[in-house]
Amino acid sequence: MFIMFGTAIISYKSLPLTKEVKKLVHLVLHALALGLGIIGIYTAFKYHNESGIANLYSLHSWLGIGVIVLYAIQWIYGFVTFFYPGGSSGLRSESLPWHVFFGLFVYILALGTAALGFLEKLTFLESGGVEKYGSEAFLVNFTAIVTVLFGAFVILSVSSQGPPQEDEYSYSAI
Ligand code: HEM
Ligand code: HEM
Repeated sequence: MFIMFGTAIISYKSLPLTKEVKKLVHLVLHALALGLGIIGIYTAFKYHNESGIANLYSLHSWLGIGVIVLYAIQWIYGFVTFFYPGGSSGLRSESLPWHVFFGLFVYILALGTAALGFLEKLTFLESGGVEKYGSEAFLVNFTAIVTVLFGAFVILSVSSQGPPQEDEYSYSAI
């Protein structure tokens, strides 16, 4: 979910396509990320219920619910304002900086949530007998570090200028 979320964000800067196509790619990738997030949480609840484990006791699970709810709100607002039916050009240009700010906020919150998830998973594994400096512990921690680094590059991409926009009605240099 987190990788798809990041890919959807960088699609705007990285793809050499027209604005309309990029919008479509951005909104479809975000819809897929939202779908994966909902499936992930559904399976976590299902597993907890079937194994008699309590629900929603951890900070990870609280932030996780927050991420999904805010993400859904962001998607619906983005869709209605920028895609269909689409707001007036004044509303769109006023909303855009908020859309970018809120989008990045939810993204960073998801990164924190995922880090807490890795921590929690490893703590459970260690209390079940996994060695503190064993290869499984390293695997979990390194996966978390790679996730954080991926997040850093997504944020860098949003704060960078990006390639110049192509003029849709003329030929490019080569
Ligand atoms: C941003 C992505 C994530 C979201 C939105 C999320 C959300 C959630 C939610 C809502 C629950 C509660 C389920 C319940 O109470 O029945 C949960 C549980 C859990 N998640 Fe995640 N999660 C994410 C990523 C991860 C990652 C990367 C791991 C680590 C491998 C992880 C490990 C766990 C574990 C061990 C539980 C069970 C313990 C608990 O309820 O705190 N999660 N997650
Ligand atoms: C949860 C879902 C969404 C999140 C987290 C999100 C996040 C973001 C972020 C971070 C940016 C800045 C990208 C950059 O400057 O490189 C952006 C740009 C944008 N998003 Fe979204 N977005 C979401 C859904 C949508 C939807 C459904 C639409 C509807 C079409 C949309 C339309 C736009 C537009 C028009 C831009 C401006 C691109 C530009 O010209 O710079 N977004 N979004």
